[in-house]
Amino acid sequence: MTTSTTAREVRVRAPGKINLALAVGRRQDDGYHPLATVFQAVSAYEEVTAREAETTSLSVSGEQADLVPTDASNLALRAAHLLAEATGVDPGVHLHLDKGVPVAGGMAGGSADAAAALLACDALWGTGLSREQLHELAAELGSDVPFALLGQTAVGRGRGDLLTPALSRGEYHWALGLRTSGLSTPQVFGAFDELIGGSEEDPEPDRALLQALSAGDPVALGQALTNDLQAAALELAPQLAETLAVAEDAGALGVVVSGSGPTVAALARSGQHSLAIAAAMTASGVADGVRTVSGPVTGARLVTRTAAR
Ligand code: C5P
Repeated sequence: MTTSTTAREVRVRAPGKINLALAVGRRQDDGYHPLATVFQAVSAYEEVTAREAETTSLSVSGEQADLVPTDASNLALRAAHLLAEATGVDPGVHLHLDKGVPVAGGMAGGSADAAAALLACDALWGTGLSREQLHELAAELGSDVPFALLGQTAVGRGRGDLLTPALSRGEYHWALGLRTSGLSTPQVFGAFDELIGGSEEDPEPDRALLQALSAGDPVALGQALTNDLQAAALELAPQLAETLAVAEDAGALGVVVSGSGPTVAALARSGQHSLAIAAAMTASGVADGVRTVSGPVTGARLVTRTAAR
């Protein structure tokens, strides 16, 4: 048995997410929008390795590694610095990100990196923060970071960071249509302000969708998928309409743009059916890449810890 103080290398895995429902209210004075969203963590993972080092540095691997910023703006580096600052430790660490979540796709891959980096550095440095303390730091880093820590299924209020776990039965299978024309989250919220504006009322999580999840009913879930940002994402990236249409024609139980896009998530009847929807999207050339995933899955978890020799 090793202790966190003798660990030299810690590896943590954190999942990406799909917003099954995303209700957006009117922009507040602080620039953020009140949300009521239902998150599902899915089986596309970021793996972050934190290794003891004199200084702080970062490397990235995975299919879309070249799209990831490696400067101080990287959310995993910011997470390491924030934890060091909050706990008064020396921030030296080498972080390696192995990207399994589509980059800039609306699936919170960067947020998963941040959540994984917090957990990995906490174990490496032996700072021993509670889940609540980690959650607080996570919320400072970004609205989607707390959910990457928690995982499974949850309702997100506020900026999306005030989480309540939600009951979900069964396993859901998805085909994802990826687009490389990344949509930036602030840009999509900006288009939402212009096109829709949102209600003054606090947005509410979709009841039919929560019922479908607790009943384990994929047909009802497919019908209840909603996203208030979808019209804004389609305005900025009209080609997404074709991706949605092809997935629907392939028999998807429901289709939705995930978060601020551009990833399109299509709910399938089974794992086999998700492969068929993905194949249809590839064959019709309406996606730059496809993936199949399932959910819900657990949040950020320690995978391995290697002790000093
Ligand atoms: O919190 P995070 O850094 O992930 O948010 C990125 C951007 O998305 C914000 O700067 C803001 O423009 C937009 N946003 C928003 N309302 C939210 C969450 C994010 O307007 N609830």
